Amino acid sequence: MPSAPSPDLVDLRSDTVTRPTPEMRRAMAEAEVGDDGYGEDPTVAALEEAYAGLVGKEAALYVPSGTMANQIAVRVLARPGTAVVAGARQHVVAFEAGAAARNAGVQFHTLDDGAGVLDPAAVAYAAELEAYHQPEVSLVCVENTHMAAGGVPWSLGELAAVAAAAPGVPVHMDGARLFNAAVAAGTSPAASAAVATTVMSCLSKGLCAPVGSVLAGPADVIEQGRVERKRLGGAMRQAGVIAAAGLVALRSMVDRLAEDHARARRLAEAVADRWPAAGCDPDRVLTNLVVFSPDHPEALLDHLASHGVLAGMLAPGVVRLATHYDVHDDGLERALVAIAKAP
Ligand SMILES: Cc1ncc(COP(=O)(O)O)c(C=O)c1O
Repeated sequence: MPSAPSPDLVDLRSDTVTRPTPEMRRAMAEAEVGDDGYGEDPTVAALEEAYAGLVGKEAALYVPSGTMANQIAVRVLARPGTAVVAGARQHVVAFEAGAAARNAGVQFHTLDDGAGVLDPAAVAYAAELEAYHQPEVSLVCVENTHMAAGGVPWSLGELAAVAAAAPGVPVHMDGARLFNAAVAAGTSPAASAAVATTVMSCLSKGLCAPVGSVLAGPADVIEQGRVERKRLGGAMRQAGVIAAAGLVALRSMVDRLAEDHARARRLAEAVADRWPAAGCDPDRVLTNLVVFSPDHPEALLDHLASHGVLAGMLAPGVVRLATHYDVHDDGLERALVAIAKAP
């Protein structure tokens, strides 16, 4: 029978490994529920309203996963046979098993996102290509924070410049970690998402809820999204049981993300000390992810595991460490010692 790694291990593989807090478990047990297929689940409705308010949009939709939220946004905002501009290493491009091609019939026009953000000039160039027999650009996707680049948060200026580079083209923000971005940038989530037509956030990552993401945008877009959620099999029934944990996540788990960011920064300093050429600049580690490319990644993962520390790999040669609610100072110290001793 599969089992979770022992709680004695320091699990830095992902921020998705967090378990619901006692407050979440209580809220789940006591949740008021109804059939959300009939629009009758008050807890789901409360969660959707709370998220829409936080990100400054008219309406929101609760969905089982961040991937589904991205897919719904692409299906609603982009048309089959058109191009979606996105960074080459964004989740919607690289980590969703080709879903956008399969679900929405779109073609990605990918841009360099090595630094996490997109170059407005490259976005403008992509939008001009239609005049040269290339597909019309119907959507721009940004990822904030950018996971594969090491949790890079966008500044408001960078977001505004990219949105302005393709006038009239909607922007979808994969804000799986939007709250990390806002905490790091010292802005509100609404300000961070202001240029986006739609924005999605995962409740099940650093915010610790067991399940679910929320997609927000204009009311008519979210209504269409509701139909797409049905088509993808994502409509749920007494989903208030899990939405209740999401409400706790939004109410009480956001401000503490700063602690995860401080611990990630310490990990980044240790990584940069130990492997100066592995591409990790601690000054750019502003949220909860540390991404680097050591010479012998598999051996490193084995070494860390022998010290009770679990790390993950994002791609061949690329190691990721994620801090989260279940990584405390003692676990951090254990990871720092293991990194310093790495062969
Ligand atoms: C940036 C980003 N977007 C979307 C997702 C998808 O979320 P889920 O795993 O809930 O489908 C993830 C998950 O790791 C992510 O990191």
